[in-house]
Amino acid sequence: MERQVAIIGAGISGLLACKYTLSKGFHPIVFEAQSSIGGVWTKTVQSTNLQTPKPAYQFSDFPWPSSVTQDFPIHHQVLDYVQSYAHRFNLLKHIKFNTKVEGIEYEGPSEEEVQAWHLWSGTGEPFNSRGKWKVSVRNTQNDSTEVYTVGFVILCIGRFSGIPNIPEFPPNKGPEVFEGKVIHSMEYASMDYQSAAQLIKGKEITVVGFSKSALDIAMECSVSNGKKHPCRVLYKTEHWTVPDYLPWGVPLGYLYLNRFAELLIHKPGESFLHTILATFLSPVRWLFSKFVESYIKRKLRLDKFGMVPKHGFLQQVCSCLITTIPEKFYDRAAALKTDLVILATGFRGDKKLKNIFVSPIFQELILGSPDATVPLYRECIHPQIPQLAVIGFSESHSNLYTSEIRCRWLSELLDGTFQLPTIKEMKKDTAKWDGFMKQYSAQYYRRSCIAPLHIWYNDQLCKDMGWNPRRKKGFIAELLEPYGPVDYASPS
Ligand SMILES: Cc1cc2nc3c(=O)[nH]c(=O)nc-3n(C[C@H](O)[C@H](O)[C@H](O)COP(=O)(O)OP(=O)(O)OC[C@H]3O[C@@H](n4cnc5c(N)ncnc54)[C@H](O)[C@@H]3O)c2cc1C
Ligand SMILES: NC(=O)c1ccc[n+]([C@@H]2O[C@H](COP(=O)([O-])OP(=O)(O)OC[C@H]3O[C@@H](n4cnc5c(N)ncnc54)[C@H](OP(=O)(O)O)[C@@H]3O)[C@@H](O)[C@H]2O)c1
Repeated sequence: MERQVAIIGAGISGLLACKYTLSKGFHPIVFEAQSSIGGVWTKTVQSTNLQTPKPAYQFSDFPWPSSVTQDFPIHHQVLDYVQSYAHRFNLLKHIKFNTKVEGIEYEGPSEEEVQAWHLWSGTGEPFNSRGKWKVSVRNTQNDSTEVYTVGFVILCIGRFSGIPNIPEFPPNKGPEVFEGKVIHSMEYASMDYQSAAQLIKGKEITVVGFSKSALDIAMECSVSNGKKHPCRVLYKTEHWTVPDYLPWGVPLGYLYLNRFAELLIHKPGESFLHTILATFLSPVRWLFSKFVESYIKRKLRLDKFGMVPKHGFLQQVCSCLITTIPEKFYDRAAALKTDLVILATGFRGDKKLKNIFVSPIFQELILGSPDATVPLYRECIHPQIPQLAVIGFSESHSNLYTSEIRCRWLSELLDGTFQLPTIKEMKKDTAKWDGFMKQYSAQYYRRSCIAPLHIWYNDQLCKDMGWNPRRKKGFIAELLEPYGPVDYASPS
């Protein structure tokens, strides 16, 4: 029981959690509701590409195959890559497919006792001999149910699937009074490509939203229906989309993903020197934003379409809302009547997280206050929920990279390499990150985006694990070179 770990989900995060817990001698059992691995990459809209440049979306010890030559592989190439990884590290035998976790319940110390602890899990250790999790699973093929008992749970259930975010409509002003059809992007993405193509063919379509799902689906509609039935895109907020990652020829990573870029913004728990630097360098930060904005405006002719965002590019980065725009997108969208509405309005990953807990107290704790980010220490551990971690909720520009370093950190924690601070100290730390996210992501703070401070964040995980956080050779490289997964391939 001590070393028995349940991992819920076999997407990228679950596979990484499985690999790294195995490497420390644990016995992971991975529950996956679907019949295969890969999570969001198993089925998506036909035109989906990786939108993170491939070198940033790569397992640190498993390069992309040389047969994948493009920088932004198509979705089935991503899935092949993830599957090869699972085969390479022999992970499949640890996964129970078609096994949906219906709920997890903590058994042992009472909820009152747990809430009174000042050390996580009672002792500060990941396992507590008095406490265990009961994991109730349902076999989706024969509907049978079973209960597993484990010492630790890792939730890798994903943020962008399962529960759609459906806008609330006033009474008699929603889909019930609309004569056409209304679906969510999740439904469209789950259709086989032929049925999806048939659904949109020859229709007047409105796509709601202006993030990646919306742009991709609108593009598919437009390519399918041409000028005869132009596609309408209905959105609340204009966003900065990127036509490529080379504004005016400068790689975006040099502007936003190196240590120098992190000096330009305030950091949670920063020293006085960092405060001074971030304050005095703010004109440089502004210049970087204007530099990128001028490029996007020019290249996409945003002025002509009246679609210049009101916020700066920095906020776009800080909200993890960088989206690549399909080529000639703006030339194709127009306003017209509608037969079909596709709500590309995102997902309720927070609800999914809440629903997995049986206890109403844990359900409430995990989401925290609606006015704050989900309170996870190091974006993994809820200070008041024992013997449990969450991987893949908080976002970055490359979620694979982020999940991998978190899984390494977590496996070191489970193995006893380091201990967590007191609950009070962890709460203080999460509050600082909450402040940072509110400062830089504005209304998108609930996305818990660490992208603009990924190196700073990694530094903390490295220090916890006893790794050297400086991964580059020489001062200049350390300051200016963008960081990515291969920088963390080995502990030293
Ligand atoms: C279409 C699309 C494209 C994307 N492109 C990019 C990109 O280019 N770059 C980037 O950084 N990120 C991208 N993302 C974000 C993406 O979510 C992450 O990159 C990453 O794949 C998430 O992996 P995950 O394992 O955390 O979650 P998921 O892939 O969502 O996997 C979660 C798994 O958990 C399983 N599960 C959930 N609940 C249960 C349960 N109760 N019981 C059992 N199993 C359960 C699910 O079936 C699923 O297999 C994209 C997302 C989408 C939707
Ligand atoms: N690699 C790829 O090609 C690819 C493809 C698809 C998805 N993804 C990723 O998957 C994740 C989810 O993407 P997503 O596009 O599905 O969701 P998302 O990023 O959460 O975007 C949701 C969109 O819906 C809008 N919206 C939400 N509620 C609305 C309402 N009530 N009325 C009008 N608009 C509303 C939002 O507008 P506001 O911004 O105004 O709130 C936003 O434009 C993201 O991380 C994305 O990058 C990647």
